[in-house]
Amino acid sequence: MARDSQATLATPRAFRGMAGHLVTAVSVVIAIVDGEPLATTAGSVVAASWDPPLLAVLFQQGSRMAAALDYSERFTINVLGEADHDLARRFALPGREQGWAALLDTGLLRRDPAPPILGRAIAWADCAVVSAIPIGDHRCFIGEVLHLDRDTAAAPLAYHRGRFHALGSAAAPAPRATFTESELQAVW
Ligand SMILES: Cc1cc2nc3c(=O)[nH]c(=O)nc-3n(C[C@H](O)[C@H](O)[C@H](O)COP(=O)(O)O)c2cc1C
Repeated sequence: MARDSQATLATPRAFRGMAGHLVTAVSVVIAIVDGEPLATTAGSVVAASWDPPLLAVLFQQGSRMAAALDYSERFTINVLGEADHDLARRFALPGREQGWAALLDTGLLRRDPAPPILGRAIAWADCAVVSAIPIGDHRCFIGEVLHLDRDTAAAPLAYHRGRFHALGSAAAPAPRATFTESELQAVW
């Protein structure tokens, strides 16, 4: 497919189309502002450093979550499982309700004054913002991971070109499609 002669000029619109090919996990970020939670779906969560353990997440300038993180400097990352595309959609809708009532049916684990955890998350991390960096039309928040947990048996939700997906079969049969524990330490 790689063609240079017909390359498309990288307008913001064309770039969004290209970026849609970057498959992401789907997380719900939760912050507390004035005692009430705000939950937002995010695909931009990445592990930024192993030691110290740091996560990065980016939110558009002017979004409610960017303002909430600048203010509260604390958030949880809740990685969604493959069955929870309804939650992913709900917490992505502009103008969605916020506050405790909006999270009532999510099996929320309250940890006041720390932000809550979605009981259905397949992995979660509780983070303190250590840095907020303006990047183009987004803000990048670096969070130091304080506490975490995960369910190693659960399957993740994936997002690709505007659609939610469950992961299909492995790209190659085991063992070629799998890293051993010692390879993992060396590779990534
Ligand atoms: C799968 C998915 C991933 C998303 N990831 C991000 C993200 O990483 N950063 C972001 O700013 N918005 C992201 N959004 C959009 C937000 O969920 C939400 O629509 C936006 O923050 C609404 O802003 P508001 O709370 O100010 O209304 C994503 C939406 C979807 C459906």
